[in-house]
Amino acid sequence: MHKNIAIYPGSFDPPTNGHLDLIERGSKIFDELVVAILRNPDKDPLFNVSERVAMLEALTGDYSNVRVDTFDGLTVDYAAKIGASSVLRGIRALSDYEYELQMALMNRKLRPELETVFMMPAEKYSYLSSRLVREVAQLGGSVKGLVPELVEQNLRGKMDPAFKLAEFAAIPEATSAGRKSRTRKKA
Ligand code: PNS
Repeated sequence: MHKNIAIYPGSFDPPTNGHLDLIERGSKIFDELVVAILRNPDKDPLFNVSERVAMLEALTGDYSNVRVDTFDGLTVDYAAKIGASSVLRGIRALSDYEYELQMALMNRKLRPELETVFMMPAEKYSYLSSRLVREVAQLGGSVKGLVPELVEQNLRGKMDPAFKLAEFAAIPEATSAGRKSRTRKKA
């Protein structure tokens, strides 16, 4: 049977509750949802790609039809490579629309058969972005309720050198052992 596969591409630096809200919604309408982290060597990310993969894998472990992958190059080429027919993107406010429209139309120009599907996260996350989360955390503000607890802990680890000793990999949910020990169930 034909599987309806979607990719959810992004930087996820770091993953926020808005991303997770969208992943949950996407997992309900697609047979398979691939959270695709862009490997972008030009950027200077807060979390490296492996850290982002580990966080997203831990955070999406309960969804049997969600997996995490990384890609570089064009989103449309990655989608074609894994047989995805849709790109999932979140639209929070009107301000997102112009950029998302440009991207969706460019992707359509590059690969007409790939459909972009927009979903809105819960209203309470409509002002939330990874960039603001990074900024608030870096300036010592609280990001409680804006990102999952695991991400909050890891952000603290990045900010506070003493906390760094508790090291990323020491957090059970972020390790492959921790992930494997979870029972996967569909949301
Ligand atoms: O989380 P972001 O930064 O909003 O994600 C943007 C992303 C990764 C979806 C976009 O930059 C992208 O698709 N990059 C891959 C390169 C590409 O395909 N560029 C043309 C897009 S029209």
